[in-house]
Amino acid sequence: MTQDELFKVLVAHCKEYGFIFPSSEIYDGLAAVYDYGQMGVQLKNNIKNYWWEAMTRLNENIVGIDSAIFMHPRIWEASGHVGAFNDPLIDNKDSKKRYRADVLIEDYLGKIEEKIEKEVAKGRKKFGEAFDEAQFRATNPNVLREQAKWDEVHNRYVAAEKANDFAEYRQIIIDCNIVCPISGTCNWTEVRQFNLMFSTSVGSTADGANLIYLRPETAQGIFVNYLNVQKTGRMKIPFGIAQIGKAFRNEIVARQFIFRMREFEQMEMQFFIKPGTELEWFKKWKETRMKWHVNLGMGAENYRFHDHEKLAHYANAATDIEFNFPFGFKELEGIHSRTNFDLGNHQKFSGKKIEYFDPEENTSYTPYVIETSIGVDRMVLAVLSHAYTVEELEGGDSRVVMKIPAPLAPIKVAVMPLVKKDGLPEVAQKVVDELKYDFSYQYDEKDSIGKRYRRQDAIGTPFCVTIDHDTLTDGMVTVRERDTMQQERVKIEDLRALIEKKVSLTTLLRNL
Ligand code: GAP
Repeated sequence: MTQDELFKVLVAHCKEYGFIFPSSEIYDGLAAVYDYGQMGVQLKNNIKNYWWEAMTRLNENIVGIDSAIFMHPRIWEASGHVGAFNDPLIDNKDSKKRYRADVLIEDYLGKIEEKIEKEVAKGRKKFGEAFDEAQFRATNPNVLREQAKWDEVHNRYVAAEKANDFAEYRQIIIDCNIVCPISGTCNWTEVRQFNLMFSTSVGSTADGANLIYLRPETAQGIFVNYLNVQKTGRMKIPFGIAQIGKAFRNEIVARQFIFRMREFEQMEMQFFIKPGTELEWFKKWKETRMKWHVNLGMGAENYRFHDHEKLAHYANAATDIEFNFPFGFKELEGIHSRTNFDLGNHQKFSGKKIEYFDPEENTSYTPYVIETSIGVDRMVLAVLSHAYTVEELEGGDSRVVMKIPAPLAPIKVAVMPLVKKDGLPEVAQKVVDELKYDFSYQYDEKDSIGKRYRRQDAIGTPFCVTIDHDTLTDGMVTVRERDTMQQERVKIEDLRALIEKKVSLTTLLRNL
């Protein structure tokens, strides 16, 4: 199966098992908007809890808030979003389809990278143990040719990005013969700027309605509450404010499932620091955030940093944590050193003094900020795409198993009486009563045990507990572990501790 096909299968699986549905589906859906189903919402909540507790509980100097989605329109002028929150847009004249010029070029570069990695994989297979990857990359003619092509396009792209040179974006697209996937032609319009903010109005027209925006990031709700939190929480620099909430962007390209949505959720933390210490804190937050990801056990090799070559005018350092999605390494989280741009501008636009008095140095200053910003939905996609596994079983059978990190799994345990009679359901109910206060669970007594295991594998339940006739006499149940499919007999009173060890968020947090 190609990665593309695999991705389609994953999307179908997410719908079939209640993780994610297209929004407004009975009306044929709404592009780039999705709903979370009964499994998806629990996975999402577990991810949010992991982030929230890691930020606000493990750091004494980080507190959380929940600010409103609607904010004063001047905020978006101060933040620069009204003037500069734009994407470069290009249309194909034949298909009339609209694309982001930068994404077309990045996808083209991604395809070259894929070709190079395929060559390297071929070499590894051919030479086995004796394979010297560095030498292969430095000498193989196919790799060298593709690498030279990548370097040339990449250099032109970075220069165009730095100079905001849209004519050059278009020229790169034409020179590389990047065609529209629908029409197959290279018949492109000029590249134009497109503002991503959604707007609406408050108040009736008769009252003189005001134009307001749906927030495109949660960060500004933190900045405008800086003084409130610092004063009421008696916070001393360095300190952070964390927030989880919805954000809205009128994305031009609505593709890749929940990777790029028009309504999505962010988990953002602004860390307020003394000017001059930003590069030190930037490094620290890069390490901390990478550790948070790797701690989930989805393979350190599936993450990498991508330092920004073009910095926003207010930033003096920025990096992305990229994840190896089915469509290649793409941004999962951003870490930005934002200087005092936001607080400084809010001070200017609001006319309110936004400063911190440093009692040790007896001076006042506008704090600098390090921001960590991750999309909840992208994180859900990272977990689901990494989890989806098809395994061949003995006897020619196969199973689809979602190997979701156990503390994030929507359902932690399934309780199943072997048969629906002989008093087994009653004992199973007692097991449920024993477990339900600590773990999300499903009770299932329908179909064969094999079918019931498959259903739980498909939603990623780490443990299945079966009550059989022996349970009636020895008080023991069979516990089957999702990934190894190994089974063991366990006393009912020991179940809680056994499950807890593997699925608890506390264990995950302790490892950080
Ligand atoms: N406050 C900084 C900020 O918003 P960003 O890089 O534009 O920075 C941060 O967004 C994160 O939000 C991204 O790394 C990504 O995970 C998520 N994100 C951004 N746009 C998204 C979209 N259209 N759909 C889903 N997630 C998105």
